[in-house]
Amino acid sequence: MGLYRRGSRSHDFENKGRRPQAGFEKGSWEMARVFSGVQPTAEVPHLGNYIGAFRQWVALQDQHECFFCVVDLHSLTVPWDPKLLGQRSRQTAASLIASGIDPERSVLFLQSEVAEHTELSWILTCVSRMGELSRMTQFKDKSRNLERDSIGTGLYMYPVLMAADVLAYRGELVPVGDDQRQHLELMRNIAERFNRDFGETFPVPEPYIPAEGARIMALDDPTRKMDKSSDRPNNLIWMNDPPEVVRRKIARAVTDSGREVTAGSDKPAITNLLTIYAAVTDRPVAAIEREYEDKGYGDFKMGLSEALIDFLGPFRSRYLEILDDPGQLDKVLDSGAARAKEVAHQTMQSVRERIGLRRS
Ligand code: TRP
Repeated sequence: MGLYRRGSRSHDFENKGRRPQAGFEKGSWEMARVFSGVQPTAEVPHLGNYIGAFRQWVALQDQHECFFCVVDLHSLTVPWDPKLLGQRSRQTAASLIASGIDPERSVLFLQSEVAEHTELSWILTCVSRMGELSRMTQFKDKSRNLERDSIGTGLYMYPVLMAADVLAYRGELVPVGDDQRQHLELMRNIAERFNRDFGETFPVPEPYIPAEGARIMALDDPTRKMDKSSDRPNNLIWMNDPPEVVRRKIARAVTDSGREVTAGSDKPAITNLLTIYAAVTDRPVAAIEREYEDKGYGDFKMGLSEALIDFLGPFRSRYLEILDDPGQLDKVLDSGAARAKEVAHQTMQSVRERIGLRRS
């Protein structure tokens, strides 16, 4: 598995994570068990996924025991292409490794390869209530335009499977985007209810949510999140966008009125670009503002494009290198699933015991 730590540039990604990250809701954890998941719905992440999520996952590895899961079963809650699904899962795992997830320190695996997720999910289904599931805004949003009779049940049960993901490992700290806050709240309620009814079994997981400033907004509209499911291709930068595409998208990015390169609530577009610039160069926003003090938006955008290109280059080559050696990636994911299974199996044994699934 040494392959994935090779190459000096890859360490740049890792080292970025070694610094404490500012702007997070501070947990009180010295050393926690961390669990997070990502759906395999795109070939590579976009910049917002990296800056808002994966970068934090990478940093968490230094202090905590981490489980990172490609949640392929969650991606079945909307229509999918069976010919593409497996490939997307591999690509997502490769993206995580290329972002700096170290599969030797962290457990990296596919959700569907550890059957305990679905087993626990059923048991938690029987501990959950239709009322609480019906209140989930993500469910309401995703089913709004559908006839009631045709809303997929998977969409409805989605947060229960998510609870099972974390609780199967007795996870304590869950890094997620702000949009998952409500799902975390539900997960906590399920854990508490289970503990109350069947005895202390699960730690009640805490969300670990980036502050406002770590959220990356759309390049064409700084009031909306950078979003892979948008039909506006210029709203985002994919982690494998080639240099000319990066230059074009940044050139087209909206700016604010005025001409000073400064962050502030009156300058949402420039603030967003500054946040990106700071994240990919690992510099403070103030230092970048100073650098462009006497310059305009044009120079700033040019500098940002080049910084992005420098940053994306190593990701791209590592990503391709990892996919180029499928045997090695298989080994990593097999071993991740085996390590995950060991832990989840133990949890399931106590769950079965507590709820009385036994012959006598
Ligand atoms: N629902 C999460 C998202 O869309 C993905 C996810 C699935 C997850 N299971 C999880 C995140 C468990 C954290 C923990 O972002």
